[in-house]
Amino acid sequence: MSYSRITGTGGYLPEKVLTNHDLEKIVETSDQWIVERTGIRERRIAADGEATSDLALHASLRAIEAAAIRPEQIDLIIVATTTPDQIFPSTACFLQQKLGVHGCPAFDVQAVCSGFIYALATADQFIRGGQYHCVLVVGADMLSRMLDWHDRATCVLFGDGAGAVVVQASDTPGILSSHLHADGNYHSWLEVPGQIESGGIRGNPYIVMEGGTVFKFAVNALGAVVDEALAANRMDKSELDWLVPHQANLRIIQGTAKKLKMGMDQVVVTLDKHGNTSAASIPLALDVAVRDGRIKDGQTILLEGIGGGFAWGAVLLQW
Ligand code: ACO
Repeated sequence: MSYSRITGTGGYLPEKVLTNHDLEKIVETSDQWIVERTGIRERRIAADGEATSDLALHASLRAIEAAAIRPEQIDLIIVATTTPDQIFPSTACFLQQKLGVHGCPAFDVQAVCSGFIYALATADQFIRGGQYHCVLVVGADMLSRMLDWHDRATCVLFGDGAGAVVVQASDTPGILSSHLHADGNYHSWLEVPGQIESGGIRGNPYIVMEGGTVFKFAVNALGAVVDEALAANRMDKSELDWLVPHQANLRIIQGTAKKLKMGMDQVVVTLDKHGNTSAASIPLALDVAVRDGRIKDGQTILLEGIGGGFAWGAVLLQW
């Protein structure tokens, strides 16, 4: 078997809803400003005591059920996250424990908002190489824990959540190709500069971002990587059925859709309800569109994401 195919999806959002109106009571902002500049109306915030691996577990169980497999069949676990339960061990190991699975490899991928694209590409390579056959790929993040709730330029953007997919070996595609990029020269545009040192935190432990710079770079980089994915498969824009983009800003998403000459009715948008859930945003959006029946067998789907690093990428697949 020389391809990998997503056979089940799952998503999970924490219970607590934080609306733009709630944020008006925390920082000087307005629902109108946030909706006009970003498209976000509300986001979810994880409960005290809830860990990234808890969110990941809920999403994974739903994906496992959808794929109609047993957890013991999973032979590799990859979790994309920037908000691990602990510095170490990896969140993937905690998830493995919570799933009651033993012995299979489990590791985290840290590529911030493009983490799910990186993790899915990694799973695809392991499956194509013949080493693993049933991989659980999760994007799970709780960026709310790293927000400066006095900084209105960042605290309105992010939310918490998890999305998961089961990826299995298949005779037919499946994943057609994946395209990954990074450029560490741009790390300071979006980062959490702080680090643990000698029992304390050295530097700023909150998200700092040059919003305008990020915006412009994202539109150009995503435009280039979707072209790259289409060219690699000798495919025309018109052959795409769905765009499932990273959910950072509606205007960035509209920019990519316009470049692809896709109407917004072919784009899965969840950021109005989810906000930017970082590594979780693409698998959460995918899960929503699979479960509500928009994504159907045989359709061609383009996933794309970008985030801190800077790191970005795309995956083209046949459903
Ligand atoms: N409410 C009200 N006013 C605000 C807020 C807010 N929450 N935040 C900023 N402002 C003000 C600014 O202070 C500024 O005021 P000034 O003109 O008096 O100085 C004004 O609004 C305009 O600020 P800009 O930063 O120029 O606004 P812009 O239109 O660029 O929108 C935004 C800001 C939404 C952050 C946008 O730049 C953006 O979305 N960038 C991409 C960032 C992103 O998506 N990051 C997520 C992670 S990376 C990724 O996933 C791609």
